[in-house]
Amino acid sequence: MTGPIGVAIVGCGYIADSYRLCLPMHAQDLRLCGVFDRDAARLAAYVACWGDRGYASLGELLADPAVSIVINATDPKNHVPVTRAALEAGKHVYSEKPLAMTRDMAKDLRDLAAAKGLRLSAAPCNILSESAQTLWKALRAGAIGAPRLVYAELDDGMIHKADYRNWLSRSGKPWPARGEFDTGCTFEHAGYVLTILCAMFGPVRRVAAFSTLVIPDKQTDIPLPHPAPDFSVGLLEFDGGITARITNSVVAPYDHRLRVIGDEGSLEIRDTWDYACPVKLRSVSQGRLARYLERRFGGVGAAKPLPLVRTPAMKRKRGDPSMDFARGVAELADAIRTSRAARLDADFAVHIAEVTEMLQHPERFPRPAPVQSSFAPIKPADWAA
Ligand SMILES: NC(=O)c1ccc[n+]([C@@H]2O[C@H](COP(=O)([O-])OP(=O)(O)OC[C@H]3O[C@@H](n4cnc5c(N)ncnc54)[C@H](O)[C@@H]3O)[C@@H](O)[C@H]2O)c1
Repeated sequence: MTGPIGVAIVGCGYIADSYRLCLPMHAQDLRLCGVFDRDAARLAAYVACWGDRGYASLGELLADPAVSIVINATDPKNHVPVTRAALEAGKHVYSEKPLAMTRDMAKDLRDLAAAKGLRLSAAPCNILSESAQTLWKALRAGAIGAPRLVYAELDDGMIHKADYRNWLSRSGKPWPARGEFDTGCTFEHAGYVLTILCAMFGPVRRVAAFSTLVIPDKQTDIPLPHPAPDFSVGLLEFDGGITARITNSVVAPYDHRLRVIGDEGSLEIRDTWDYACPVKLRSVSQGRLARYLERRFGGVGAAKPLPLVRTPAMKRKRGDPSMDFARGVAELADAIRTSRAARLDADFAVHIAEVTEMLQHPERFPRPAPVQSSFAPIKPADWAA
């Protein structure tokens, strides 16, 4: 098979515009045949903005022989039926995350894809970012010796107090606050870190997680009947013995740092959502003076930014996404065209979906014993009363 592969987008919501913005960077791999949304007004707004073909129905899109890969950009609760329909129709699928909201549904989709001889892949694809690849390469080159521990933050600030009612995508779709609060920040975001860590360190073998709803009233225009947990923290043990602590919230101030700590130093990405974010190497012997200089002057001589493995492909204008959403689809297309294994294959997607579910819903899985002891409340010191 030569030339670009035909793709179609199902779901013309907030993120479909980001995919559309990124597709031209992959013109050698991907050709957009058209789009569909079951909401006619949303479909019309997309078509008016971009001028792409709008299919009249999902059936028409799936019947188009020019379409090889369906990009499932529907909201998480609709991922499974749309992915299933696409596979049944003989299309490869690249699904937005999570692949499914439960491990069992994710496995069913993988098995269906395998039975049909089709590829199934899922976002996020930020392991393919220049930043993550630079960190991974430095790890492989032994820049920090043996990796031991990972700290990963995915805190997004108090989104419910942000100006999100005015966040509009290119074709005018509002950021889907209700859906996001209903789905939960862990289902929405954990994959951004899990995909990087699992690619580098292999499968997760043990998870100890805690999740809760810290702020039940998200002050949405219509109250949410079942808001999902807005905070989770998980401890992961990878096959290779590496331990990671991963935090997700829409409560604590924005912090998307990833730090990998090894015997000889640490590697740090300040924001895993920025494909071009510098990667800093910090020596384990960094002393107090270096720490002071870094705090005071922003890192003189303390944390060395590594050269990125290639010049970032994205030339961003104000308002453009900091992530290349179409890169994972292009990776899938190349794998299909060259008959090689996809980097983000169906087993990988199922694993990420399973660990994500364990982080967001630890109560669904066997739990450690509850703490039994307690003590009387402790008073503040009299001089601080
Ligand atoms: N919003 C973000 O900032 C963001 C960022 C990255 C990834 N994502 C992911 O992208 C996906 C979509 O998110 P979004 O923010 O665009 O949601 P959205 O609610 O804005 O859009 C989803 C669209 O899918 C359509 N849809 C639902 N079921 C359908 C069906 N069966 N057939 C056709 N259309 C259908 C809806 O009508 C809607 O227009 C989610 O998986 C989300 O996790 C979102």
